[in-house]
Amino acid sequence: MELNQLLEQRISVNNFDPAGQISREQLESIIQAATSAPSAYNLQHWHFLAVTDKDRKLALKQAAYNQQKIEDAAAAVVVLGDLKAFEKAGLIADDLSAKGYLPEAYKDNLINTLHNAYSNESTQREEAIRAASFAAMTLMLAAKNDGFGTCPMTGFDPQAVRETFNIPAHLFPVLIVTIGQELEETRPQKFRQSVEQVTTFNGF
Ligand SMILES: Cc1cc2nc3c(=O)[nH]c(=O)nc-3n(C[C@H](O)[C@H](O)[C@H](O)COP(=O)(O)O)c2cc1C
Repeated sequence: MELNQLLEQRISVNNFDPAGQISREQLESIIQAATSAPSAYNLQHWHFLAVTDKDRKLALKQAAYNQQKIEDAAAAVVVLGDLKAFEKAGLIADDLSAKGYLPEAYKDNLINTLHNAYSNESTQREEAIRAASFAAMTLMLAAKNDGFGTCPMTGFDPQAVRETFNIPAHLFPVLIVTIGQELEETRPQKFRQSVEQVTTFNGF
């Protein structure tokens, strides 16, 4: 689908077809696309918890204030932020160096910089939220391009989601994205402010 059309037609789906399905391959292909999202230092502070089994969706629904779309969607992907993404610094530096982005001699410097930059939890958390949000948006556009509807959701109890899925301490839920077949006919995009309203050139 052409990009502008895709952006306009991606709307938050309210009603998913409970009979709608998504194969593991389709879901993996959409997640693959989501991993092309950008992230600070390419640390990829994300992890995808793909919830497809009926009983697991019901458990997630309960942790999400019983939002029905979690049950009806073919899958719900909990996009997790990774507080310890900076521990991949060595991997990232090796890749940058192998591809000619970073001279070999600067690798240790980059690794030290990253360990320092991510030494406090608020930076870890903020960057993880940014990265996971970009990944979630990319996931939604890829899903739409493959003919699926989506809805981003933060209406859930993070602690309940953590307990329900045994999420390890270094990961935390940023957003849930439901993916499935839309029941509605294609509906118009909701109100958006004009470019003039939301843009300021060169400072306030
Ligand atoms: C951070 C975030 C949290 C959201 N949480 C929910 C949610 O818990 N349940 C829901 O039905 N929609 C949720 N939405 C969808 C918004 O209501 C929707 O994006 C907004 O109304 C704009 O509509 P559109 O996506 O169709 O353009 C959320 C969207 C965002 C970006």
